[in-house]
Amino acid sequence: MSIKLSSGDIKLREFEKSDSTRFAELANNEKISKNLRDGFPNPFTVEHAEEFIQRWMALDPVTVFAIEYKGEYVGNISLSKGKDVYRKSAEIGYFIGEPFWNKGIATAAVNLITDYGFKNLDIVRIHTGVYEHNTASQRVLLKCGFVFEGVFKKAVFKQEKFWNEVRYAKLR
Ligand SMILES: CC(C)(COP(=O)(O)OP(=O)(O)OC[C@H]1O[C@@H](n2cnc3c(N)ncnc32)[C@H](O)[C@@H]1OP(=O)(O)O)[C@@H](O)C(=O)NCCC(=O)NCCS
Repeated sequence: MSIKLSSGDIKLREFEKSDSTRFAELANNEKISKNLRDGFPNPFTVEHAEEFIQRWMALDPVTVFAIEYKGEYVGNISLSKGKDVYRKSAEIGYFIGEPFWNKGIATAAVNLITDYGFKNLDIVRIHTGVYEHNTASQRVLLKCGFVFEGVFKKAVFKQEKFWNEVRYAKLR
């Protein structure tokens, strides 16, 4: 059974192969990749998008969703469950294509996947680390009830520079 989660104009759904072109178009943006891990490449090609989607479509349970706004694909959101002693936690990750910023889409998507994760993934904690300059993402997390947990100094080495990582979490 396919999963669909929705709130107003915003819907989370499973990925389809046909998302790859638009995913690559929106992801191929340095303003997005600079806030994510190096595993999210720049430039970002359709081949990268196809590889990611193939991997995500095989996941069971589903933990990576396409975000739709008014019926249009606009970005991604995921939960990655921890392993070993961290198996009751998950890390949240997301991006929204630049043309769709500041419409409340990430806020709605984070609320939807948080609720889904706590109900379906046997976890009690969802967390993430935001690079210090990414004030929009920190604002999203605070709006969704995540709590500031501390700063990991110089934890991130990105684009040949060190950055502090600001950690946030929400408990079930
Ligand atoms: C961070 C990101 C997901 C936000 O998505 P979005 O859909 O625009 O977020 P929302 O509209 O729900 O909320 C954005 C909030 O940040 C605020 N904001 C936006 N730019 C800001 C800035 N430069 N400084 C401070 N606040 C900012 C907005 O005003 C809004 O807060 P408000 O509702 O109190 O006014 C999006 O910018 C993005 O994909 N960035 C690149 C990838 C990324 O950073 N991913 C997260 C990694 S931790």
